[in-house]
Amino acid sequence: MIPFRTGVQVTGRDFCPREEALRSLRECIQSSGRVYVVGERRIGKSSLIAESVRPLKSIRPVFVDLMAVKGLEDITHRLGQALIRTEKRHGHILALVKRLASLRPQISVDSLTGSPSVTFAPGTGNQLDSLDDLFALSEQWRNAVVILDEFQDILELSDASRIIAKLRSLIQQQQNTSFVFCGSIRNRMEEIFTHEQSPFFNSAVRLFVGPLDRKLFGDFLRQRFQSGKRHIPDRILDIILNACHENPGHVQRFCISLWQVTSHGQEIGDKDIAAAWGMLFAMQKDSYELLLPSLSPHQTKVLRALAHAGGESTLSANFIETTGITLAPSVRKAMVALVDRRLVQKVDTTYRFCDPFLAVWIRQQSM
Ligand SMILES: Nc1ncnc2c1ncn2[C@@H]1O[C@H](COP(=O)(O)OP(=O)(O)OP(=O)(O)O)[C@@H](O)[C@H]1O
Ligand SMILES: [Mg+2]
Repeated sequence: MIPFRTGVQVTGRDFCPREEALRSLRECIQSSGRVYVVGERRIGKSSLIAESVRPLKSIRPVFVDLMAVKGLEDITHRLGQALIRTEKRHGHILALVKRLASLRPQISVDSLTGSPSVTFAPGTGNQLDSLDDLFALSEQWRNAVVILDEFQDILELSDASRIIAKLRSLIQQQQNTSFVFCGSIRNRMEEIFTHEQSPFFNSAVRLFVGPLDRKLFGDFLRQRFQSGKRHIPDRILDIILNACHENPGHVQRFCISLWQVTSHGQEIGDKDIAAAWGMLFAMQKDSYELLLPSLSPHQTKVLRALAHAGGESTLSANFIETTGITLAPSVRKAMVALVDRRLVQKVDTTYRFCDPFLAVWIRQQSM
């Protein structure tokens, strides 16, 4: 079995420790606090939150994923489903479903897992007041932590300000519920929590998630290779961590490729790293090849220039010149479009590929 995980939240034995962040998050959750968690894509935000609540048996975590949420009705339905998912006992699920009768719930049973799932009727839950009942329910439990993941996506809705103001007023009234807001588009999250005009201004403490402790993560990875009797020297681990900017998600993705090109009893070396790159690109080829034709000519030029700048850059005069686009505002516009498409992320004033392997692939294509 491959001992690396990617694309999923990791907890328990799969979670390389982040003691300090876990401690402060747990403290906040246990005192009905409000915290917003930010950090770049695939850095481990959702895993950190899941791991922080995992041992807290007296806490009832309500995970709501707001990724690409479509409107108020969608928010209400996702929140309702998340509340119901916290209940495993069949009799209690029915009671919960009854409480949400105004959303006209329908229960079905998954034929594969046998677990019940609930959907709500289209056209229900599209009034701001629909949220009142849901928040009243979680507050009544007195031990809920509501986790709103990809919270910044609410900003994309046409009636965002109305919804955000309503959420803020409801959350303010919750005395016994803690709230964790999480988001991977950092400047949008900061906009919500640090701009004076925002209803959420100064309403939550900030928890920044950066790379894992390099030594701890190196040991964690070495042990995983050892579990399959592969020995990985420190020098090779350094190469991987540097190529992946120490981002745990990208590191684990690379390690899966490396695992697949190596075998039991082997000492891992440079030629295996080269083979792992080959394996990675073979797996990504189709999606990478589809991507470039879907971009505008300006976006393509900017993405190429960013790849050749090592995968990250500010919008300096020097960078703008390397794009080959004469007008600086056009470069900025193309970069913003790349951020909106989640190909590039903005960290302070630096723009960086969300997927560092795409940057390497683009560089290779133009050699
Ligand atoms: N503490 C950790 N120990 C080991 N691997 C980790 C850890 N945290 C994250 N990872 C790796 O990173 C991947 C992404 O983790 P996670 O989904 O938690 O990140 P995220 O920041 O929420 O990502 P996104 O921005 O896409 O929402 C995991 O599948 C795993 O491979
Ligand atoms: Mg996440």
